[in-house]
Parts: sequence; structure tokens; C-alpha cells
Amino acid sequence: MTTNTNTKKLFIKTWGCQMNVYDSNRMADVLAPLGYKPVNAPEGADMIILNTCHIREKATDKVFSELGRLRTHMESKKAEGGRTLMAVAGCVAQAEGDFIMERAPYVDMVFGPQTYHELPQMVMKATGERVVNTEMPTQSKFDHLPQENDNQGVTAFLSVQEGCDKFCTFCVVPYTRGTEFSRSVNEIIEESKVLVKAGAREITLLGQNVNAYHGTGKDGKTHKLGSLIAQLAEIDGLECIRYLTSHPRDMEQELIDAHRDIPKLMPFMHLPIQSGSDNILKAMNRKHKADKYRDIIADVKKARPDIAMSSDFIVGFPGETDQDFEDTLQIVRDVTYAFAYSFKYSPRPGTPAANMQGQIHENVKKERLQRLQTLLNEQQIAFNQGCVGKIMPVLFDRKGSRDGQLHGRTPYNQSIHVEAPENKYGNLYKVMVRDGQANSLTGELAE
Ligand code: SAH
Ligand code: SF4
Ligand code: F3S
Repeated sequence: MTTNTNTKKLFIKTWGCQMNVYDSNRMADVLAPLGYKPVNAPEGADMIILNTCHIREKATDKVFSELGRLRTHMESKKAEGGRTLMAVAGCVAQAEGDFIMERAPYVDMVFGPQTYHELPQMVMKATGERVVNTEMPTQSKFDHLPQENDNQGVTAFLSVQEGCDKFCTFCVVPYTRGTEFSRSVNEIIEESKVLVKAGAREITLLGQNVNAYHGTGKDGKTHKLGSLIAQLAEIDGLECIRYLTSHPRDMEQELIDAHRDIPKLMPFMHLPIQSGSDNILKAMNRKHKADKYRDIIADVKKARPDIAMSSDFIVGFPGETDQDFEDTLQIVRDVTYAFAYSFKYSPRPGTPAANMQGQIHENVKKERLQRLQTLLNEQQIAFNQGCVGKIMPVLFDRKGSRDGQLHGRTPYNQSIHVEAPENKYGNLYKVMVRDGQANSLTGELAE
């Protein structure tokens, strides 16, 4: 590929999960040899990419209203004799590609998450015609993406597994991301080394079901997530390892043991249960019972007693009774979470649950969500306040909101603001937690 030295402005707006954040970085990497450089605002951009998410309601509407807003930038660029390539990527593009092309004639390109390595060819093509690419190629995009560039920062994301074969009845991911796929151990180690060399001290391994990871090792054998983490922990300069998102059905002893044995693996686990009711779990096709989840948590806490747990919840799934919802509140009380996301069930076109009997009225969903969030917030505040007075290692990952302050993350993934000189940025220091609020902590250097 020839390198173009004329700099062109690339603006990428990202919605959705961390995997989209990772993908946006990789799209910038792929486009760099064509002369595109990322910018933070759409003004004057030569190319705009909306990296979209389709997980809950109004996803497509949001894309259209953003496109409407961005059109003014395209027009001013045109008035100056230039051109902005307008592209829609990500999960909405995958699901609604043709519809977007039809309704927004000024969109030049629509392409799905498995096609990013083909971006240079698509960009060339888009100078003459409109491009739609929602293929699910049999070859992995990872084989063709260039190496990570060196501006990923202190904390980096790294996709190790993609796609999902579980087909929970509410979820679009198996349709937008395709079937489950694990990258090889070697590829992940090499990419991690590049990130660490460029300054990353923490890597978060990503996957829709990251603990379903089963990549081929150098020895030709299949390695699970626990083994992958153990191998990554040997990289000098890499201080903290995290992973997202785990599925209860894929939880294996090896990973639980890793939390006991590998100090670089942070004591935090995002393990969504969605509902505490066995009836609803069955209707969701989660294929495990609430008690199985309780048993997993007990094993995890045995291995790492101070581990912080987090989860995702859906309220108002079709057929959810008051008792089902009470079961969800009960599991929250039983587990006690440091953090959690909770959502009203949102019917997604093409998923089985969207056509189920017993859709729940919006007011009921709202009321249940509020009750659940009140309980989760209480637990989050209690967890944060329970940290006051403790000394813990904190990785400073960006400037704080005030001068003289740095922002960091605790091992339990809490945000913390600390009075600290700028030269501490990018490294781990012991911090004494002074105060705990609902969403973050404050602290002071303890060394
Ligand atoms: N693979 C992960 C979840 C990925 S999607 C898992 O199985 O746990 C992220 C979260 O979005 C889900 O955990 C779920 O809580 C929420 N979600 C997905 N589809 C949804 C829908 N149709 N309505 C509401 N929330 C949804
Ligand atoms: Fe969606 Fe279920 Fe797959 Fe998670 S496991 S991505 S919720 S289908
Ligand atoms: Fe959204 Fe796609 Fe991620 S639907 S949550 S961006 S996998």
C-alpha cells in the first residue's frame, strides 16, 4: 500500500460497547496509510464515520438524527470545494444498512463490524459510487488489520474474542457481530507487547463472551481465558489485566483460580445475570438457573474474597411477573454489587422475545427499573464508602477535572481523583482513599 502524506481529517463518533471503541481505534489505524488523521470534532472533516450500536431502542433514530446534524458540515465543506465522505459503521449498519442508504442519500458508505480491514478499498470505491458492505467474511478481519498504532494511552482495549452463538432471545449481537470467534494466543501477546511498548500499563481484554475464549496457542493446543491471562501477565511493563464481558455459562475454574494466583489480574468481575428469576432466565435462553449463578459467585469469592462484582440487568422482559422481579431484587441482595448496569427491556426487531406474549407496559418497566436502581445505587455507595481509609494501587490514566489532580482507577475499577503532580501520570501509585461518593472516590498519595 502506498503512503499518502497529505493529511486528511477523520472524525469518528463511537456509540455502544468497548468493542466499538476498540474497533474505532482500529479503523483509524487502517486509514492512517491513506493519510487520514483522527480529529476530535466534525468541522472540516474529510471523512466522518459513525460507529453505531443497535443494542436498545431508538438506535436507528439516533443515527439518523446525528446524520442530520452532520450534514451541515458536509455542506460547508462542499461550499469550500471539498468533500466529506460520510460513513455508517457498527451494529446498526450491519442490521439496517440498506435502509440507511435508502433514507439518507448523502451517506457514501455503510459497512458492518466484520469488514473494517477492507476500508482502504471501500474508501477508493466510494469516491465514485455508494458502498454497502455487510458481509460476514469467512476470514477473520484480525488477520488483515495493521498493528496497533502507538497512541492508545495508558489503558488499552484489546479484542480477543468476537461474536456470539448464544442467541439470548432479547439480543441482537449474534445477528450484528456474527458467530463466535477467538483470536490466537500469539496474535494477542504480540498486540499486547506493541501496546505496552507504546505506554499501556493496563489492558482490558474484550469479547461479547470473553470467558468463552478458546484460542490456539503456540503449542497448537486450545487455551482458555485463564491460560491467556497467565501468559499475558508475563509481559514486563504490563501491570493490570482486566476482561469484559463474562457469561455465567462459560465460567471455568481456571479463570476463577487466575483471580487467586495472578496478582496482575484485577479483582473485578463483570458477570451479567440479567434476571434473578429462573422462569425469566429460561425465557431469555440464558441456559442456567439463578442458584447456579449464586454458586459461581461463592466460588469466585472463595478464590478472591475482596473481588468486586458487577452485572447487567433487564427489567420488564415479556412475561415478567411481580414475583419474577422480586427474585431479581433478591439476587442483588444476595450477591451485593460494586457496580451494575440496568435496562428496561427493549424489543429488538428480528429477535424472538420481540414477538413473545406478555409484553410489559412501559410504566411497569419504569417503576421496576427505578426500584432496582435504587437498590443498586445503595450498594454502589456502600461499596465506595467501604473503601474509605484503605490504601490501594491506582493507575493514573488521565488528568483530573481540576488542576493539580490526576484521575485513576482502583483495582475494583472505581474512578478516583487524587491530588498528584503530573509526572505521576501513566504509572501505579499507592493511594489512600479519603472519601467515597456515588460514582467516584477521592484520595491522596500514600507514598
Ligand atoms: N454478552 C453479554 C451482554 C452483551 S449486551 C452477556 O451475555 O451478558 C450488553 C447488555 O445489554 C446485556 O447484558 C443486557 O443487559 C443489555 N441488553 C441487550 N439486549 C437488550 C434489550 N433488548 N433490551 C434491554 N437491554 C438489553
Ligand atoms: Fe447477547 Fe446473550 Fe450473546 Fe450476551 S450471550 S451477546 S446477551 S446473545
Ligand atoms: Fe452495541 Fe454492537 Fe456492542 S449492538 S453493545 S455496539 S456489539
